Amino acid sequence: MKDLFGKALLDYQNGNYTEDIVTSTSISGEDKLPLPYLFRNFKDMPSLEQRALKLSKGFVLDVGCGSGSHSLYLQKKGRKVKAIDISIGAIEVAKQRGVLDAEVKNILDETETFDTILLLMNGTGIFQELSQVSKYLSHLKSLLKTGGQILIDSSDIKYMYEDEDGGFWMDTNSSYHGELDYFLSYKGKKELPMKWLYLDFNTLNLACETIGLKCELVLEGEHFDYLARLIPAETRIL
Ligand SMILES: C[S@@+](CC[C@H](N)C(=O)[O-])C[C@H]1O[C@@H](n2cnc3c(N)ncnc32)[C@H](O)[C@@H]1O
Repeated sequence: MKDLFGKALLDYQNGNYTEDIVTSTSISGEDKLPLPYLFRNFKDMPSLEQRALKLSKGFVLDVGCGSGSHSLYLQKKGRKVKAIDISIGAIEVAKQRGVLDAEVKNILDETETFDTILLLMNGTGIFQELSQVSKYLSHLKSLLKTGGQILIDSSDIKYMYEDEDGGFWMDTNSSYHGELDYFLSYKGKKELPMKWLYLDFNTLNLACETIGLKCELVLEGEHFDYLARLIPAETRIL
């Protein structure tokens, strides 16, 4: 990873904002990811994120924290927060912005336990592909304190395969429709291709069932997006 995402965040933080990140995927053309959006405050966040922050309680882990916008809000509300990201630049920015506990770390290497685990801005993206969902969910479940919860957002991107006549052109024999190759470039440099996963609610729900998590639909957004709350399924007392 060349950490172009982190470099872009650092540029914005240090007053060197001249251009946005350019993204594209295996099923869509170029799009801009405006850097100011990655520094959004509470009132500019989508309602799903606002709801997730309102539901956050106790010791919170912000997974893939980026510039730390969600962590900063929670910290200001008096929550104890730990922010992690695999991007060195992102963690540098989160620290500069005032996130007290920010660490370069892959979620799979996290070992502390938390009351709330937040994965926001298509939180399922971090799982990369459908075959890895159980591994990530099992690990996240192992990081929950008693009574803990995972708050995660994603979208059903089936609409991206819809043609002008309302038909769908996706190949039902190929992989799951939310598995994308994701390409990012910044200031003329190309990041190494990444895998990025969008999960529809039913598929997330099924994956949760297989590893003993209850999956509740908290809120639906305006465009096939949703916020889910995952909690350990009740242990049956025999
Ligand atoms: C779409 S960005 C979201 C950033 C931030 N949560 C926000 O809403 O602005 C996803 C973030 O997840 C980080 N990330 C990807 N895989 C990760 C992993 N396995 N563990 C921790 N962070 C990861 C990326 O570096 C990136 O900063």
